[in-house]
Amino acid sequence: MTNTDLDRAKTLIASIPDYPEPGVNFRDISPLLADGAAMRAVTEALIAPFEGQFDIVGGLEARGFLFAGTIAMMSGVGILPIRKAGKLPRPAAAVSYSLEYGTATIEGPDVLKEGERVLLVDDILATGGTLTAAQALVKDLGAEVIGSAVVLELEALGGRKLTGDVHTVFAG
Ligand code: PRP
Repeated sequence: MTNTDLDRAKTLIASIPDYPEPGVNFRDISPLLADGAAMRAVTEALIAPFEGQFDIVGGLEARGFLFAGTIAMMSGVGILPIRKAGKLPRPAAAVSYSLEYGTATIEGPDVLKEGERVLLVDDILATGGTLTAAQALVKDLGAEVIGSAVVLELEALGGRKLTGDVHTVFAG
C-alpha cells in the first residue's frame, strides 16, 4: 500500500446530493470498488489493527460483503455473511433494530464455532443501527466480536454512541 493509494481512495467515494430522497447526501463507493490499488489500500487499512486477531470476517449485506471478501483473501480467513431478513434458508439467529421509520432485521447462518473471533466490516457507519445489531447477532451465534471496522464513518450522525469503538479508515 502507498499513502497515495489510500489518499486517492478517499476521493473515490462520491457524494450524491438528494439521493434517495431530498436532504440525504448519499455516499457512493462505486468508483472506489472499480480501482484495484485503492481497494487493496483500503483493505489493508481496515485490517491493520486486527492482524492475527480474528478467525473469520463478518460482512454486512450488501456492500460490507465486498470488503469482507477482500479481507478474507488477504488474511486467509473465511466469511460470515450477515444477511437482511428472508435471504437465508435456515437462519440461526435474528436481530431487529430501529430505522428512522420502522424496523429492520438481520440474520446469520449457523456456521460459527463457539468462541470464534469475528471481525465485523461494513462500508459506512451512519446511525450505527446496523452494526450494533450485527454485534448482537454474532454474540447470539455464540461467537465473539473482536472488532468492528468501516471504510467511512459519517461522524455527524453519532453512530459510535451505539456501536462502541469502531475502527474507521475515513471520516466524513
Ligand atoms: C447502508 C450501509 C450500512 C448501513 C449503515 O446499508 O452499507 O450497512 O446502511 O447505516 P446505519 O449505520 O444507519 O445502520 P443499506 O442498508 O443501505 O444496505 P445496502 O448495503 O444493501 O445498500
